[in-house]
Amino acid sequence: MSRIAYVNGQYVRHADAAVHVEDRGYQFADGVYEVCEVWQGRIVDMPRHFDRLDRSLGELRIDWPMARAAFEFVVRQVVRRNRVRNGLVYIQVTRGVSRRDHFFPPEEVAPSVVVTARSTSTEAANAQAAKGISVVSYPENRWPRVDIKTIALLPNVLAKQNAKENGGKEAWYVDTDGFVTEGGSTNAWIVTRDGTLVTRPAESGILRGITRTVILDLIQKEGLTFEERPFSLEEAYDAKEAFVTAATSIVMPVVQVDDRTIGNGHPGSVSTRLREVFHTATDFQMV
Ligand code: PDD
Repeated sequence: MSRIAYVNGQYVRHADAAVHVEDRGYQFADGVYEVCEVWQGRIVDMPRHFDRLDRSLGELRIDWPMARAAFEFVVRQVVRRNRVRNGLVYIQVTRGVSRRDHFFPPEEVAPSVVVTARSTSTEAANAQAAKGISVVSYPENRWPRVDIKTIALLPNVLAKQNAKENGGKEAWYVDTDGFVTEGGSTNAWIVTRDGTLVTRPAESGILRGITRTVILDLIQKEGLTFEERPFSLEEAYDAKEAFVTAATSIVMPVVQVDDRTIGNGHPGSVSTRLREVFHTATDFQMV
């Protein structure tokens, strides 16, 4: 079965999927995106992802490419046509195609839309989670508007590549005050020695992750102790547990930060529990 992508109104073979060279996403990274998890043939928290897409589009003054219900239909179609049961669906909207000029296009230009989906291995992800990952700290190198989910990810690419070259799976951004902001493509969490979950407020320095929001609900449900405040890299080194959250990894335990072992070097009980019960707190859209 060949993979199918949706590009500007058409379902095409993934191998043939293409946008124009003067797409503003290609020229200026002038666009936004979302990634949703597909779990057991259902799309996880699509309304929340579309709400955030709406906010990102609004902040950049890019029009919705179509009505929201039609867009949700396209996303479901792409998942269905690729027969994804467990995996990811990627949604991207750019300001469209126009002669290269930094100013917004002078005339009405239709936004460009790309939707792709792919299967991922649940077994591989669970095996990774059973071991935990290492993260490598990196000085914050992004613009202040990290609350907008833009496709301008070059700083994240550099931070994550540095992590990889130093034996890590994720980068942890550290701001000029020594506080961890978030991961290169995840939100960052610790559990202190007294068992308090800590994550940075979403008001500044981070993307308000949808997975993060689900975890906040779970913390309430499970009656866990929680503080929403910045934590320093030093505090992370000393934590009992650490983990990252994102649609691509749900809850992924962190067992090493730089050259420091976290806790006993194995995924902690809080992270493991949150990963296990995660889908009890999510909303689902059938495809
Ligand atoms: N990344 N912070 C950053 C910088 C991110 O890029 C992401 C998501 C998150 C977590 O958001 P959510 O829980 O809504 O996935 C936090 C996506 C998955 C990516 O770029 O692949």
